[in-house]
Amino acid sequence: KIIPVIMAGGKGTRLWPLSRATAPKQFIQFVGDRSLFQATLLRVSDPALYELPIVITNDDFRFLAAEQAREIGVGLSATLLEPMARNTAAAAAAAAAFIAKKFGDDALLLVLASDHEITADANYVEAIRIAQKTAASGKLVTFGITPTKPATGYGYIEMGDKLSNGAAKVKRFIEKPALAEAEKMLATGGFVWNSGFFMFKAADVLQELSVHAPDVELAATQAVAKAASDLDFIRLEADAFAASPDISIDYAIMEKTANAAVVPASFIWSDMGSWDAVWKGGIQDKAGNVASGNATLINTKNSLVISRHSHLAVQGLEGVAVIASEDAVYVGRLEDSQNVGTLVKQLAAAK
Ligand code: GDD
Ligand code: MG
Repeated sequence: KIIPVIMAGGKGTRLWPLSRATAPKQFIQFVGDRSLFQATLLRVSDPALYELPIVITNDDFRFLAAEQAREIGVGLSATLLEPMARNTAAAAAAAAAFIAKKFGDDALLLVLASDHEITADANYVEAIRIAQKTAASGKLVTFGITPTKPATGYGYIEMGDKLSNGAAKVKRFIEKPALAEAEKMLATGGFVWNSGFFMFKAADVLQELSVHAPDVELAATQAVAKAASDLDFIRLEADAFAASPDISIDYAIMEKTANAAVVPASFIWSDMGSWDAVWKGGIQDKAGNVASGNATLINTKNSLVISRHSHLAVQGLEGVAVIASEDAVYVGRLEDSQNVGTLVKQLAAAK
């Protein structure tokens, strides 16, 4: 069976002001009635395919994660706590080291982001099954999404030779390219987006790390070896974990390994990384608006309006996001959504 590992330690700053340091995007409901974290848990709750999931997050979110899992009746196999954020390479490495100890070297991990919206239909299950076979044969498996625009927030995968079972070799992996490079890849063709979730054997990812990012591998395995249990939580040892470089799994391994494969995905996928994605993923009315909470829209088109607090009235605008939380309001063009993270950095610096 597959062991799902859910990474839920990110900050999600591009979804300010609903996504906050105390409750980042994976734990909040945007327009539906489940958080993205809960939706992720439900996608891997079929006991025929999956073991109980492992969550990796940090102290601040541990009760939030536990409470949200309980709310939807999903049991967790363990919750690993990072003493400080060291990015996704260290998170995946710690999960792999923990799972290798508990389930053995050949255990198959499905490492998931908790900020994706995915339709878990038959196409999805089929992709998972192909990945399962491919990972069992020793590959690090990614899922490839057909690109629709030269987005710079994603990894790009150049597909190589076909493997026997529907997957293909990864010829090249380029994480977050510059716009010109992204445009070139779209024009050339043969590239897919990295969906941001992965499948591999515990020992295989640790082996690749020991070659391409040995400091990450050492820090994570030491932090697991010296970990302490606290209630249902497993605390990774701080001194060991702190020694890991802050690097994402994409830069640390996927760009470097010669051993990666990609399963082309025909399921519906969206990274809920920014307000335009929330707008696209929401239910649009006839004017193309997605509204939630106490909001009135007049003569407004193709906009996202969310209010968590006061009554919000929007008139005569097009293509904007108006987002009001309890204590802050954001107004901006949907096409500028990628820059909200920069804005939040400036706000933090100005404090
Ligand atoms: N536990 C833990 N610790 N989780 C983390 C940490 C950390 O330090 N940092 C990030 N995460 C979690 C986030 O909560 C999210 O669920 C997931 O890991 C991915 O992090 P993001 O910060 O959202 O990555 P990204 O969107 O910039 O890029 C990745 O996803 C893209 C697709 O959405 C990359 O894999 C890209 O190549 C990919 O295209
Ligand atoms: Mg993301």
